[in-house]
Amino acid sequence: MKKVYLETYGCQMNVSDSERVATSLVSKGYEITTDENSADIILLNTCSVREKAEQKLYTRVGRLRASHVKKPMIGVMGCVAQLEGETLFKKINGVDFVVGTRAVGRLSDAIQNVLEHGRGYSDLGEREFDYDWSVSDAQLHSPYVAFIPIIEGCNKFCTYCIVPFSRGRERSLPASDIIRNVLQLRRRGIKEIHLIGQNVNSYRPMTESGLEGFEGRTPFSRLLRAVAATGMERIKFNTSFPRDFHADIVDAIDEHENLCNWVHLPVQSGSDDVLRRMKRLHTIERYFNIIDKVKSSPRDVSLTTDIIVGFPGETEDDFLKTVEMVEYCKFDSSYIFKYSPRPGTPAYEMSDNVNAGEKTRRFRHLEEVQRRIQNENLQRYLGRTLDVLAEKPAAKSDGDLTGHSTCHRVVNFPGEKVLLGETVKVAITEIKSNSLYGEVVAAA
Ligand code: SAH
Ligand code: SF4
Ligand code: F3S
Repeated sequence: MKKVYLETYGCQMNVSDSERVATSLVSKGYEITTDENSADIILLNTCSVREKAEQKLYTRVGRLRASHVKKPMIGVMGCVAQLEGETLFKKINGVDFVVGTRAVGRLSDAIQNVLEHGRGYSDLGEREFDYDWSVSDAQLHSPYVAFIPIIEGCNKFCTYCIVPFSRGRERSLPASDIIRNVLQLRRRGIKEIHLIGQNVNSYRPMTESGLEGFEGRTPFSRLLRAVAATGMERIKFNTSFPRDFHADIVDAIDEHENLCNWVHLPVQSGSDDVLRRMKRLHTIERYFNIIDKVKSSPRDVSLTTDIIVGFPGETEDDFLKTVEMVEYCKFDSSYIFKYSPRPGTPAYEMSDNVNAGEKTRRFRHLEEVQRRIQNENLQRYLGRTLDVLAEKPAAKSDGDLTGHSTCHRVVNFPGEKVLLGETVKVAITEIKSNSLYGEVVAAA
């Protein structure tokens, strides 16, 4: 039996693809191993969103070739595979095959092909008509939390972003399939699902089957209500795209306890000029209106975002507008990135005139502002009791368990392993820099 070691970089979509690749390989007689040294085949599921992410692939293959005793077969899948295709064989010494983002269902064919004909096989084709989106229990990344793709690809073409090129055009999965999947996962003991996609608010299925009874609303908020009606304990979703984020999403959260009180809404910049050049299709005024709507919810919805500093042509004044915007929105957390030029995107052609030192200065300044706001925000949880799903033993402290609150904060607490998979009420006693700490007061 051939042993496969799978390593995943990048976003939840890659994690989700890896889960299905592992499921299908096991059904075809392969064994998935967590020990890379015993593997006959190593699969690298790659990310291309920033230069650093892409660089990881090159160093990783080099190291594998130099140190691995078994000389395993190496396959590259994911976004770098889709973008580079056969050029990877020339760029890196030691890659045996390349499988693109929509060809993941045919991974075993690629392995078979290399076994029979040697290295150099690539498949960048479309998904099969009857592609199986299901994941077996053993291959879920968590026994209690599952990712469910609802829309793949992206049509937005933000000028800095490679994703529309690596993931192709938007395609929504049928609502009836999604709901069937949620019901099945619930029966299998899953407590929390994340509906995932590059832009979940752009969800637009070809048929309305499964969304009946929620007319007059956007398809995504109808899907949210339909998924809420399955009785799944906790439902989260990301990522949201500001232009397509409508108030009815917040209304759905207000009306359904199992739709979690967390919204991830990447803003990217606080300057309308920069947003226009990024082709984000929203203005800061529109973004503030959404933030006001989210904050007016009686449910204390936590709000997170992504921000890019140092986009081509970003002036000091533009940057200060981003700082102001962060002060206004008071995000519970933000992922801040330095702009990274991606070949093939429109921004790559713009002159990247913010030098590396300046990018770092802006990055650090914004990080500091965010950290202060975040700490102030977190104080509101002191003394409060949060519903926390006990997901796994905490990595750093013996005897502690870790999990997430409904508002997607990491919460650690002392607890026995029998609590794993349970939702418990945790009274918050301490605020740490990126997490909360507390004591279990009751089962939720
Ligand atoms: N679909 C999501 C996010 C996709 S990528 C959205 O539209 O918001 C995740 C984040 O990576 C983006 O939100 C952006 O902040 C960042 N990112 C994407 N391309 C980048 C680039 N070229 N340089 C730096 N950050 C980038
Ligand atoms: Fe990239 Fe923009 Fe699409 Fe998000 S919406 S994946 S940032 S192009
Ligand atoms: Fe990276 Fe591809 Fe996701 S570029 S962020 S793995 S869609």
